Amino acid sequence: MRILGIETSCDETSCAVVQNGREVLSNVIFSQVPLHRETGGVVPEVAAREHVVKIIPVLKEALKKAKLRLHDIDAVAVTYGPGLLSSLLIGVNAAMTLALVLKKPLIPVNHIEGHIYANLLSSAVSNQTSHAKRRIAFPAAVLTVSGGHNELLIWDAHGRYRFLGATLDDAAGEAFDKVARLLGLPYPGGPHIQKWAKEGNPSLYPLPRAWLPEHPWDFSFSGLKTAVLRLVQTQKKRSPKFVADSAASFQESVCEVLAAKLVNASKKYRVKEIHLAGGVSANSRLREWTADLIGKNFPDRVKPLLRYCEDITFCTDNAAMIAAAGFYKYEKTPSLYQKWRPITADPNLDVKNW
Ligand code: KG4
Ligand code: ZN
Repeated sequence: MRILGIETSCDETSCAVVQNGREVLSNVIFSQVPLHRETGGVVPEVAAREHVVKIIPVLKEALKKAKLRLHDIDAVAVTYGPGLLSSLLIGVNAAMTLALVLKKPLIPVNHIEGHIYANLLSSAVSNQTSHAKRRIAFPAAVLTVSGGHNELLIWDAHGRYRFLGATLDDAAGEAFDKVARLLGLPYPGGPHIQKWAKEGNPSLYPLPRAWLPEHPWDFSFSGLKTAVLRLVQTQKKRSPKFVADSAASFQESVCEVLAAKLVNASKKYRVKEIHLAGGVSANSRLREWTADLIGKNFPDRVKPLLRYCEDITFCTDNAAMIAAAGFYKYEKTPSLYQKWRPITADPNLDVKNW
């Protein structure tokens, strides 16, 4: 089954064709990052206008790369939340029109679930790690970390989730972006912080770690962000050494807490796999911390498989992950999606069971 995925929840216009939920035939992403760099973040109306301009060219390119015509598509899957309402509406409208005209099933997909299902795309992992191409063994502990969301879940089966916790303030990616701004680095901050951190000393500045003993599965990054602000205020100018050391110290604080909570939850719930998902899962230090804590906390015979998208194109927003999640939803209850129904975009959509 070949599903056309459409993703426009924030500042990436993306269309993809994915076969049977795993094989990526095409994944075209038009990033608006250069546009939003001028404002240091996404202005919703500017993003929506750009989606309108790019959605058809991106769709045509995705079909061309997959060597398919529109009529060869078996179903259309689209992100309907969470995200920026004005951006979501462009993708939802395009998907509803295509499904109606082509008379194909229309599958609404939660963006966060898209990030989770990205780990099941065979193109997301390299040839070396063939074990990661195995079928998923449930239950899995999943950390979703992006610019807009930060959740800890137990994934029991396709469409079955137990929600453990979330951020009480900023999402991890948002913290990376805000701290990058404080350090004078461009938007989006995550990749720049990671690059600068490689040159810095992660233990030079003892920044706080929000363990939240009363909320062991929740997260908080606002105190850390304020601590970096105070640190910046102590400097007359931001020297390259200062930027590198504070980027490294900040990154260490975020990654240690994220990885520790994920691994603690994995132990408590005796999971078979541990997954990192979303834009921040591209961070190499987060991957290292997680692998390290898995090694220290599990004997070899019960060590859960660590999954993340080795190809970072699939960590950040893309439509292939939406097509993948759409495939599993459709496979479970095809009858739900056969008849055309309007989709209501929901900027605050939660992960729900299906
Ligand atoms: O999943 P995503 O593309 O969009 C949302 O759904 O929000 O995530 C974007 C976020 C941004 O905040 C960006 O700074 C962060 O992911 N990010 C990273 C890295 N690459 C992207 N954060 C830390 N390290 C990275 N290497
Ligand atoms: Zn995302």
